[in-house]
Amino acid sequence: MGKHILLLGAPGAGKGTQSKRLADEFDLEHVTTGDALRANKDMDIGHMDFEYDTPREYMDAGELVPDDVVNEIVKTALQNADGYVLDGYPRNLDQAQYLSEITDLDAVVYLDVDEDELVRRLTGRRLDPDTGDIYHTEFDMPDDEEIRGRLVQRDDDTEETVRERLNVYHENTSPVVEHYRDRGVLVEVDGEQTPDEVFEDVADVVEDA
Ligand code: AP5
Repeated sequence: MGKHILLLGAPGAGKGTQSKRLADEFDLEHVTTGDALRANKDMDIGHMDFEYDTPREYMDAGELVPDDVVNEIVKTALQNADGYVLDGYPRNLDQAQYLSEITDLDAVVYLDVDEDELVRRLTGRRLDPDTGDIYHTEFDMPDDEEIRGRLVQRDDDTEETVRERLNVYHENTSPVVEHYRDRGVLVEVDGEQTPDEVFEDVADVVEDA
């Protein structure tokens, strides 16, 4: 049976970057609520009596999409995965409770990155819409001119929305990190190393899980 890996960290900590590599290296499914919601941004959730009618409105405001919507996405994705690396979920204690009811975990890894560095990473992030590859204007740009020309910035990577996402993280998701730490299952990795060094540390944890 494939391993069940949970990757935690603030927005910009490198969860997407590392999850993609882990999924390739260990033959795991990359389950990411952020990508799933971006692919369904205009899904009509108006009938569910929430504040907004679509995920897009929550995401553009830097707020969390309602638990009922996200829980359903995760449940379906995990049911269809043998081993997985879960990225972007759980983001509050209710989601952590829900997760514990639908699956077990072999390892919980937390990528630790300082706040100023998070802002720098997010505002400089660029995505290749064709491949999903993640780049950065300062740290990591592709050599290929054609790829450079098609890179896009995520709608929620503006400085104002990034600040709001970090506030939401501190209020809702930091308690989730503490929850796993209190239970003695959290492995902390220095997320400020180079991407290769971070990967080595995370891969060690996954190998031992
Ligand atoms: P989501 O897509 O999950 O975004 P996030 O958690 O804010 O995380 P990011 O994807 O921004 O960052 P990351 O840690 O993956 O960093 P990355 O590897 O790209 O969520 C978006 C929105 O969806 C939420 O705001 C919410 O509205 C909604 N949502 C999602 N899940 C939800 C849930 N469970 N419940 C409710 N709502 C939910 O790296 C960032 C940059 O840094 C890149 O440019 C990269 O190249 C660079 N970088 C990475 N590692 C390094 C390194 N070691 N050194 C230097 N640069 C690096």
